[in-house]
Amino acid sequence: MQIQVDSQPYASIQSDALVTYVFHADDKLDGPLADIDRAMMGGLATLVASGELTGKSLELVLLHFPEGMDAKRLLLIGAGKRAKFEVGDLRKIAGTALRYLKSRGVKNFVFLAREGERSAAVAQAIAEGLIVADFESDKYRSEKKNNKEIQSVSLAGFDSGAASDLNAAIEKGRVIAESQNFARDLINEPSNRLTPRMLAAKAEAMAREVGLGIEVLDDRKIAELKMGALLGVAQGSVEPPRVIVVRYEPQTPRPGAPVLGLVGKGVTFDTGGISIKPADNMEKMKYDMGGAATMLGAMRALAFLKPSVSVIAVIPTTENMPGGRAQKPGDVQVAMSGKTIEVINTDAEGRMILADGVTYAKKLGVTHLIDAATLTGAIQVALANVHVGAFGTPREYLDQFLDSAKAAGEKMWPMPMDDEYQEMIKSNIADIRNTGSGKGGGAITGAWFIKEFAEDTPWIHLDIAATCWVDEGRPWLAKGPTGVAIRSIVDFAMKQ
Ligand code: BES
Ligand code: ZN
Ligand code: ZN
Repeated sequence: MQIQVDSQPYASIQSDALVTYVFHADDKLDGPLADIDRAMMGGLATLVASGELTGKSLELVLLHFPEGMDAKRLLLIGAGKRAKFEVGDLRKIAGTALRYLKSRGVKNFVFLAREGERSAAVAQAIAEGLIVADFESDKYRSEKKNNKEIQSVSLAGFDSGAASDLNAAIEKGRVIAESQNFARDLINEPSNRLTPRMLAAKAEAMAREVGLGIEVLDDRKIAELKMGALLGVAQGSVEPPRVIVVRYEPQTPRPGAPVLGLVGKGVTFDTGGISIKPADNMEKMKYDMGGAATMLGAMRALAFLKPSVSVIAVIPTTENMPGGRAQKPGDVQVAMSGKTIEVINTDAEGRMILADGVTYAKKLGVTHLIDAATLTGAIQVALANVHVGAFGTPREYLDQFLDSAKAAGEKMWPMPMDDEYQEMIKSNIADIRNTGSGKGGGAITGAWFIKEFAEDTPWIHLDIAATCWVDEGRPWLAKGPTGVAIRSIVDFAMKQ
């Protein structure tokens, strides 16, 4: 799909559709909407008066052969209240336009931004919205549900003098959104087509393509490094584990600059192990490598965007299976850091592999940590499918990250890390246990377990268990993997 700025007057651009948006209730039909209304001899005002065009968020009104325009269709999308409108809303609006028009066989359209919404940041958001919306999960369907394709989108209404800035912003949006889609492709892969070794091979191919450093630790090397927590999880499977290390180095490193470590949970299938999960919905546990995909997607984007700090991704990857050699509840494992772990529940495996991932990242010299993981069902109880659960210490470091999440238009909510929760992972026979004693707070005790290994290194933990996959499609997003958190991590890395 081509996306470009077109500086011709929008009314004379030949296209299958002209798309713009209308604010709720108070829309003055000003600027280009006033022109369109005039060309249609008051047609828009009539639609508003009749109550058919209200501007309610994501309301769609499609008109064919609009008068006075060279476009074959006019699509008006509700933008909600003008006072609550944010640049990020344009992602959803542009994405909704794309999916709606694509399903109708439209090949190209013009997206008209309104006054006040014509900056480079807007062009970037629109490009991101379009490319993320264009993703479908139909790789394994013989008859593709959607062989329809949008070939080209022109952004209109922008200042033509700023065309080169705008095109650079579109390219930035493309890199980020395509990296999100790269992660979504990985998350969609079933576990028989994405074992830990295959995930490593895909990471290698990506790293080569975009010019990142990569090293894959095999099971022998993992044993040599004494990653006992990762090995404890992996021992129930015939598939060997891997640790994938991807590196980005800036051209001219700043002396004393931070080194950012990105640790992603790469469980390619989570049966629960001996503490086995029920059959219902177990197929979804192929997406338990969502954290790994997130970090690989973020690295892919950073390879193009070139932040000024070093970034190292560390991805422990394994299956969690109930094989004859599987670890059992009550077993004690010695993590790479030397801490001993009592395995109360073999289904709390993500925190164990992250423990060794975090220890190894610190050994490689990272000064700041972010981990992403489909860690707990409890985060869905706390925040539903709306917010990513964001944990971190010190609090200022988390706040800095939440600013990036806001800038990237991703909903994340800060979760508490009080010492009382740490008490809940004390073990009777080892240093810590892998589940909380007592009731509730499952997402927080999970976070605390990881912090036991991050220790005093500034650290952020993103529990994406409830947000990295959506069962219901949205007007701007296909159902399935979302690619959440990549935009925030990229924004954060670019600001270091
Ligand atoms: N992979 C799961 C968490 C999960 C649940 C991800 C639902 C996506 C959707 C994780 O390994 C797990 O099983 N966590 C347990 C922890 C418990 C045993 C303390 C959970 O949340 O039930
Ligand atoms: Zn589990
Ligand atoms: Zn899991």
